[in-house]
Amino acid sequence: MDIKNICCIGAGYVGGPTMSVIAAKCSHIRVDVVDVNKERIEKWNSKDLDNLPIFEPGLSDLVKKCRGKNLHFSTQVEKKINDADMVFISVNTPTKKNGIGAGKASDLKWVEACARQVATYSKKHTIVVEKSTLPVRTAEVIKSILNETAKNDLKKGKTFDVLSNPEFLAEGSAINDLINPDRVLIGGENEIAINSLSEIYLNWVPESKIIRTNLWSSELAKLSANAFLAQRISSINSISAICEATGADIREVSKAIGSDKRIGSRFLNSGPGFGGSCFKKDILNLVYLSEYFGLPEVANFWEGVVRLNDWQQNRISQLVVKKLFGNISGKKITILGFAFKANTNDTRESPAIKICNDLLEEGAFLSIHDPKVSPEQISSDLGLNQNLPITPKYPIEGNWRFTHKVEEALIDADAALILTEWPEYSKINWNNASRKMRKPAWLFDSRSIIDPKDINKQEINFWRVGDGIN
Ligand code: UDX
Ligand code: ADP
Repeated sequence: MDIKNICCIGAGYVGGPTMSVIAAKCSHIRVDVVDVNKERIEKWNSKDLDNLPIFEPGLSDLVKKCRGKNLHFSTQVEKKINDADMVFISVNTPTKKNGIGAGKASDLKWVEACARQVATYSKKHTIVVEKSTLPVRTAEVIKSILNETAKNDLKKGKTFDVLSNPEFLAEGSAINDLINPDRVLIGGENEIAINSLSEIYLNWVPESKIIRTNLWSSELAKLSANAFLAQRISSINSISAICEATGADIREVSKAIGSDKRIGSRFLNSGPGFGGSCFKKDILNLVYLSEYFGLPEVANFWEGVVRLNDWQQNRISQLVVKKLFGNISGKKITILGFAFKANTNDTRESPAIKICNDLLEEGAFLSIHDPKVSPEQISSDLGLNQNLPITPKYPIEGNWRFTHKVEEALIDADAALILTEWPEYSKINWNNASRKMRKPAWLFDSRSIIDPKDINKQEINFWRVGDGIN
């Protein structure tokens, strides 16, 4: 089947970059990205390319190149489904808050809504591609909604194929991950549909990197890949605590472990715990699936990865309180970085949220800096508006303020805590910066971006994750 028109439902972190790359690599295909969120679409269409709804290196260049040519953003969901040969579902699948599976299973209401829309508005044979990460056997749900809803039109040629084509892009390197993928995974039942999708990727991905599987293997492979990556982070973070207790150094241990080719060196950086929209959600999904199929030992194993991650975040806030004499009430702490990792403005599940909330609860005043995250986003994540000094005697306990300049954020601070590995933080001259701080001043480096050799301990006390010499 020759694909000429693609419609992607969901203009978020996955849909936006993925479709921009497809449009850039396939000038013969028209790509329409649709979303119910009008404000988000307006931003995608914004003349100011610095104002796109997501920040991703290399993305604005692609949008500039293709937008208005073969890449279009709109809220015309029905019309674009109607025109499409292939529809990608890239909508949000957050963890369910209520009901059966609450706290673990994914909430599929947005995916279901998409399937109903496709069933209603498509007019011919349509290939439906699951792009969002979904629980295993979701394709069955989609298939049955499509076929039941369109029951009366199936004979008229309005038929469907469902494929699973999970994304493996990491935020901050999404464009590069899409242009040079380790693999493209396509799960499906119909060879013709699988070929149609692989033809698209073959415009820039070598055949050898395209893996074809059945639907369920593809869905499970995506969940498992994220669970394996997250597991490595919890493993190394567990060892970081042992390093601090014994005098070992986590960077040396990571290097020694990672030099074994069977293990590999990536994803062995100890830090404040993993964040991002995928890892926790996908592991909890795996836990739910294991419980559902009566496999409590498997569920327990994977749940341990999330428990360790929560513990690592908790450990860091407790440690800050302990080093500041067990009391941070009214003390100013500078938070460097709020995004869940560098090179993104995304804060979903960011360790900074839990750590900042713990410090606020202890009564600290946080001066928060991040080069890409907005103060509005931080307010929403912390559930607390920032406290602006409108009167000279504004309350400082248990409050926070956004500060645009790092130097300003450090004035009179008792401590600085690095939570995101933004490159600009590793360039700060801490011996100079500490002069602005209240003594005894502390620098806590949860990301290991500061070289201890650059720190004069007479000027500033220094702690970094997994450093047993602290
Ligand atoms: C992840 C997967 O990498 C990607 O394949 C999948 O499609 C979506 O989920 P992402 O969440 O964007 O991508 O970021 P990733 O780079 O994987 O980092 C996740 C979290 O782990 C971040 O908080 C990061 O800081 C942390 N991390 C990563 C570590 O703490 N140590 C490491 O060594 C690597
Ligand atoms: P992801 O990280 O998976 O891309 P996001 O939350 O960033 O998730 O983006 C998902 C997008 O999908 C949101 O912008 C949301 O408005 C959109 N969306 C959800 N359901 C629908 C729907 N039925 N039709 C159109 N857009 C939808």
